[in-house]
Amino acid sequence: MGQCLHARDTVPATRPYRELPSKSTDAHAMPTQPTPLLQRKHFLLGTFASNCSSGMSVTKVPERWQNSWDNNLKLARLLDDAGIDFMLPIARWIGYGGETNFHGDVLETVTWATGLVAQTRQLTVFATTHTAANHPVVVAKQIATIDQLGRGRAGLNIVAGWNNPEYEALGLKLAPDHETRYAYAEEWYQLVRKLWQDPGRFDWDGAHFQLKGIHSHPKPYGEMPPILNAAGSGLGREFATRNANFLFTPAIDLARSKDEVAELHGSARAKGRKVGVLTFSHVVCRPTEAEARAYLSHFGQQHADWAAVDNLVNLQFAHAQSFPHDLLALIRDRMAAGHGGFPLVGTPQQVAQGIISLAEAGFSGTTLSFVDYVAEFPYFRDTVLPILRAHGLRDA
Ligand SMILES: Cc1cc2nc3c(=O)[nH]c(=O)nc-3n(C[C@H](O)[C@H](O)[C@H](O)COP(=O)(O)O)c2cc1C
Repeated sequence: MGQCLHARDTVPATRPYRELPSKSTDAHAMPTQPTPLLQRKHFLLGTFASNCSSGMSVTKVPERWQNSWDNNLKLARLLDDAGIDFMLPIARWIGYGGETNFHGDVLETVTWATGLVAQTRQLTVFATTHTAANHPVVVAKQIATIDQLGRGRAGLNIVAGWNNPEYEALGLKLAPDHETRYAYAEEWYQLVRKLWQDPGRFDWDGAHFQLKGIHSHPKPYGEMPPILNAAGSGLGREFATRNANFLFTPAIDLARSKDEVAELHGSARAKGRKVGVLTFSHVVCRPTEAEARAYLSHFGQQHADWAAVDNLVNLQFAHAQSFPHDLLALIRDRMAAGHGGFPLVGTPQQVAQGIISLAEAGFSGTTLSFVDYVAEFPYFRDTVLPILRAHGLRDA
């Protein structure tokens, strides 16, 4: 049933780097370059979770995603050449159990992003950071360093916390209430932003951080690395509409999404800001609908790792409000197939139509995942992207 093309062979370690003007040799220069991702006006496309074992599909099929460095590099180059906008990783420290220990093998996101930015030309690569596990001064410098390396192509996905067993594994205490989590995240991010924007040294005397004579140089290459935040709770959304360029939310039911996106735009507008709303989708694209549906049922039902799915769903429902709690049964199936992502299943025309419907619901973009990203992306590139271009949704 699986695709015959596999991405297990090795790839050359280096690729010619396109020379872009180095901004300045002055280490104290302030960023002046526009941020490449924020210049793009078309419907954004990225990938999600390729740094994690099994990607977004909680499945036991043997062709499930292997998150090796070689596979990630291969995928990044395919995406870069196809004009895809970004790659987004998941920061995960322990797996979800089940037969496959879903997400038990994960490439660390800051180092992963650094390597990929060095090996690509136009793609933005996000790092994902748990506020509680990473000191903001360290993160500000890490992201600024990647941004210098990639000439403005680094992004930061901020995670305020939800996965209690993971916090216990790290010896951290997850605040039970969202007020405390997001108050901490707010101070954490205000500090990162000041470190990126303040030309001099400063003291910081906050509730969580007290710093003396801190400064951070170099600054990011771009004006501001794009900030992404995924929050379902009211307080999380307040945080995102106040601070992020993009808010991530699941698209479970597009009628609901339309109102939700409009509300999020309104909430950002009330703060004098513009925030794009992104979602995440899982792609099963085949020449016929019957083939696509048969493969979905094969990997996402018959061979799903249901024990891991249930661990994932239970954790989501215990600690986070990302998914609407009244849609559990539907979500369990979608969790198996694509970690709760919007299903883009069918022929190239049907998949393209699904993406068009996301745009019509008000989303500014979506991530894509595949059971085997490297084997399946080229078919999507060759058949779906031209339809999106013809529809005016994509420049590339
Ligand atoms: C697209 C997306 C990406 C996310 N990435 C991560 C991640 O890498 N690591 C993580 O621990 N949580 C991740 N999360 C969880 C969120 O950052 C957030 O903590 C969670 O949705 C709970 O927020 P809430 O309680 O405000 O709903 C992600 C969620 C979504 C929807």
